[in-house]
Amino acid sequence: MHCIREVLYNIMMISDKMKVAAKCCNLFFTTTSFLLLISGVHSLDYDYSATIECMKEPQRAQYGGGIIVNSEFEHNIEGWTVFGNGKIEEHISNDGNRFIVVRNRTQTLDSFSQKVQLKKGLIYMFSAWFQLNEGSDMVSVVFKTNGSELIHGGHVIAKHGCWSLLKGGIVANFSTPAEILFESNNPSVEIWADSVSLQPFTKEEWRSHQDNNIERVRKRKVRFHVTHVNETALEGATIIIKQTKSDFPFGCGMNHYILTNNDYQKWFVSRFKYTTFTNEMKWYSTEKIQGQENYTIADGMLLFTKQNGISVRGHNIFWDDTKYQPEWVKSLSPDELREAAEKRIKSVVSRYKGDLIAWDVMNENLHFHFYEDKLGKNASESYYLKSHELDPKSTKFMNEYNTIEYSGDKDASPANYYKKISEILQSGEATEMPFAIGLQGHFASGQPNLAYMRSGLDFLGDIGFPIWLTETSVDPQPEQAKYFEEILREGYSHSAVEGIIMFAGPAQAGFNSTLLADANFQTTSTGQVVDNLIYEWGTGPKTILADSRGIVDISLHHGDYDVTVTHPLTQYSKKLNISVRKGFSQENIHVKMHA
Ligand SMILES: *[C@@H]1O[C@H](CO)[C@@H](O)[C@H](O)[C@H]1NC(C)=O
Ligand SMILES: *[C@@H]1O[C@H](CO)[C@@H](O)[C@H](O)[C@H]1NC(C)=O
Ligand SMILES: *[C@@H]1O[C@H](CO)[C@@H](O)[C@H](O)[C@H]1NC(C)=O
Ligand SMILES: *[C@@H]1O[C@H](CO)[C@@H](O)[C@H](O)[C@H]1NC(C)=O
Ligand SMILES: *[C@@H]1O[C@H](CO)[C@@H](O)[C@H](O)[C@H]1NC(C)=O
Ligand SMILES: *[C@@H]1O[C@H](CO)[C@@H](O)[C@H](O)[C@H]1NC(C)=O
Ligand SMILES: *[C@@H]1O[C@H](CO)[C@@H](O)[C@H](O)[C@H]1NC(C)=O
Repeated sequence: MHCIREVLYNIMMISDKMKVAAKCCNLFFTTTSFLLLISGVHSLDYDYSATIECMKEPQRAQYGGGIIVNSEFEHNIEGWTVFGNGKIEEHISNDGNRFIVVRNRTQTLDSFSQKVQLKKGLIYMFSAWFQLNEGSDMVSVVFKTNGSELIHGGHVIAKHGCWSLLKGGIVANFSTPAEILFESNNPSVEIWADSVSLQPFTKEEWRSHQDNNIERVRKRKVRFHVTHVNETALEGATIIIKQTKSDFPFGCGMNHYILTNNDYQKWFVSRFKYTTFTNEMKWYSTEKIQGQENYTIADGMLLFTKQNGISVRGHNIFWDDTKYQPEWVKSLSPDELREAAEKRIKSVVSRYKGDLIAWDVMNENLHFHFYEDKLGKNASESYYLKSHELDPKSTKFMNEYNTIEYSGDKDASPANYYKKISEILQSGEATEMPFAIGLQGHFASGQPNLAYMRSGLDFLGDIGFPIWLTETSVDPQPEQAKYFEEILREGYSHSAVEGIIMFAGPAQAGFNSTLLADANFQTTSTGQVVDNLIYEWGTGPKTILADSRGIVDISLHHGDYDVTVTHPLTQYSKKLNISVRKGFSQENIHVKMHA
């Protein structure tokens, strides 16, 4: 992981020089594919072009600019108009690159704009490169629809002196003309832009892209060759394949009802091997009264998970939201808080050392800053280091909402997430810390913006840390099941995502938002989506007949399998266990059958 971080940094340096060549020679180099190329890994359709650092010159417009007119400003500012106040014009860099500039701005939305027609049901990927004439500031793309509504589509921290890539998008839930414009809260800066792109995709295209990605990042081709002992092909053998363990952690939140409700226990154990306790490890649960710690419930749940081979993400050591402190903590002086927090982190992390695969260390520290306000700017950083010192093996997560689910929330945007990671990991002590990016994934009403979700995963994925969707849910609504499936597929198909936990469950355990089973433990339509995905991602079980050459070709999701081969003419059946791991080449398995 740290190796990736370093390599990535070095590549940034090299690829900076590549840019001009790339744009001038009409090549499409991306930092990531370049990285994969030189490290000897296949760069096969790895088409993310997100870069986390800025570049001397921008890359070419993605998808040739899509439906944007004059996307690379080869024709002066044709197709672009001023939005609000200001003056727009074309500039040319020393290297001959042409781009657009807006100056004399007086309002945050003063910029250049272009009108497009959005079509209901299409998913639009947006990207563009930005630079400022001075300083640095967040620049956002805004879609102005129907005369007045402003919808944010993505954010980037643009700087002076180099170009930064903004990736985002919008899902059109109705057909409407829209104006694309740009926002920077500092009206005294000039915004420069280049290589603007807006590319629509149908839902079918999107789904097929997900399926292709799943094939590439989660599956491997396996060929079974069934023969007689003398190695001549045995036609007509039957192969039964049953997954015994999936390599991909697809889990579900759990709460204290698991201790008392047998049906909930059965429901959970038959489906999931990964979990997060929704509230039971939180400080407000384990120390309601100062000095009186009570871990009875969390301990009981942990015992249950151990007995059933379920891995647990710890949630959470601290929560940066004032509202969710234990009552008595809210009124502590800074010195008292420092002391109480020190006790808390030592107590809970030491207690569960070795039992948890991960900890959410400072929950929601992009939106909130209770600890920073009281203890100083480096509060998060110091608790990440402390938790690592107490339990070096568990992965330390940031855990935030809205980063991929809501493009209107700048505070939690992928760009700000990256900034916070850099602060937390700035010290040398952090280099050995296993770190990961937690994205809660609580989706509200309406169509999920899959373009924004994917571009956020692309951007954060390029940092090089594992990403988990930690609390995936969708608010109740008529299309809940469909939207939940789209979100889960988007997560599973993204190569940077290494685990998904849903905050969902049965009504008897009090889950009322993303309900998977009703009060009588009947599977809901959303629950059916989850069960279908468990089946699909578990490949089976499947029964397949070998062809005339005795061959069965199949693509299996990474995991462990029990395989049984039988043949009608032989009484003999053969059992074997196989492990299907990441790899590009086909796995060949020769099965010799006795007569
Ligand atoms: C667009 O605006 C008009 C009038 O302001 C309104 O009647 C209509 O419902 C709006 N359409 C959408 C899709 O929001
Ligand atoms: C191989 O063994 C099978 C079954 O015993 C037999 O039918 C077949 O003729 C053998 N093939 C050769 C090439 O010996
Ligand atoms: C600790 O919590 C458990 C479960 O809520 C409760 O039964 C028990 O009485 C508590 N212990 C103390 C000492 O309060
Ligand atoms: C955080 O800041 C405080 C006071 O400025 C300092 O004493 C402490 O060492 C810092 N902690 C870390 C981890 O940098
Ligand atoms: C349509 O999109 C707009 C803007 O993203 C959103 O406010 C609204 O809730 C959406 N409506 C539906 C039905 O998805
Ligand atoms: C859903 O559950 C939460 C927490 O258990 C509760 O606060 C909320 O009121 C419930 N909502 C409904 C609509 O029942
Ligand atoms: C395959 O693995 C299962 C456990 O999943 C075990 O019970 C069985 O004995 C193994 N079979 C072989 C042939 O290794």
